[in-house]
Amino acid sequence: MSLIELTDVSKAFFTDRHKTTAKLSLDHVDLNVEEGEFVSLIGPSGCGKTVTLSMMAGFVMPTLGEVRFRGECIEKPGPERGVVFQEYSLLPWLSVMQNVVFALRNSIRAAGGRFDREEAAQRAADALATVGLDDVADMRPNTLSGGMKQRVAIARLLALDSEVFLMDEPFSALDEQTRHALDMSLFELWRERRKTIVFVTHNISEAVLMSSRIVLFSSSPGHVVEQWTLSTETERDPSSRELIELADEIRAHMPLSSRGFATNREMGELLG
Ligand SMILES: Nc1ncnc2c1ncn2[C@@H]1O[C@H](COP(=O)(O)OP(=O)(O)OP(=O)(O)O)[C@@H](O)[C@H]1O
Ligand SMILES: [Mg+2]
Repeated sequence: MSLIELTDVSKAFFTDRHKTTAKLSLDHVDLNVEEGEFVSLIGPSGCGKTVTLSMMAGFVMPTLGEVRFRGECIEKPGPERGVVFQEYSLLPWLSVMQNVVFALRNSIRAAGGRFDREEAAQRAADALATVGLDDVADMRPNTLSGGMKQRVAIARLLALDSEVFLMDEPFSALDEQTRHALDMSLFELWRERRKTIVFVTHNISEAVLMSSRIVLFSSSPGHVVEQWTLSTETERDPSSRELIELADEIRAHMPLSSRGFATNREMGELLG
């Protein structure tokens, strides 16, 4: 059994209020994620990467097929699956530290645990130190740069210490340098703590630098068309010939066209 299993998953969304037409976003996706993997999902815009991640998070349910975590159907979000989306909002009226503590409190309470404020503050402080934000712990999010806010979101994920990190283009709004620095710290973290990470990105160079596996989706409606497994034994050098060639090979496989409408059969299944 894999840690996360998507079995023959299709997802259609109704496109009108009366639920008479639907658009197919995912088309029979089979995708397993093993414990300790760093899987990057790539593919053209609109191919269903965010929908896939949202299903793993428990925010979106499949129309057909099954999404499982440790063999159990995912029906809602859970503390074992931490999420960072591109514009993951921080609560503006709380300090950086309070934002992290707040997330911890919610997660512990949701899991029926006892919240210990001092212990939570310590975990939050450790997580902020890991991402280099200990000196801004008392500041409000609106006083931070975009990169710092993203690091707060990462710190929150670290403090929660979820088994799985689900990350949707977490660094895409950042400048090259900040992005690279955060990529490297995430990669180190993954190597040290052996988390399971599912990471959505448009940046193929970023994917080849960090992933243990890269999964390419077709254009809309998305399904898995190609996968590449990378050795995790050696150091990753972005200027190495192997990585540059791999990135080129992946770019050559990147689909362009799009269909994106439900077939009659899928519509029938969707509408019952
Ligand atoms: N809640 C929703 N209601 C209706 N359609 C949706 C919804 N969420 C996603 N879709 C549609 O599903 C398709 C896949 O969307 P998704 O956001 O997963 O794409 P993506 O691969 O993440 O694209 P991008 O790279 O641009 O972020 C799109 O056509 C989108 O319009
Ligand atoms: Mg997306």
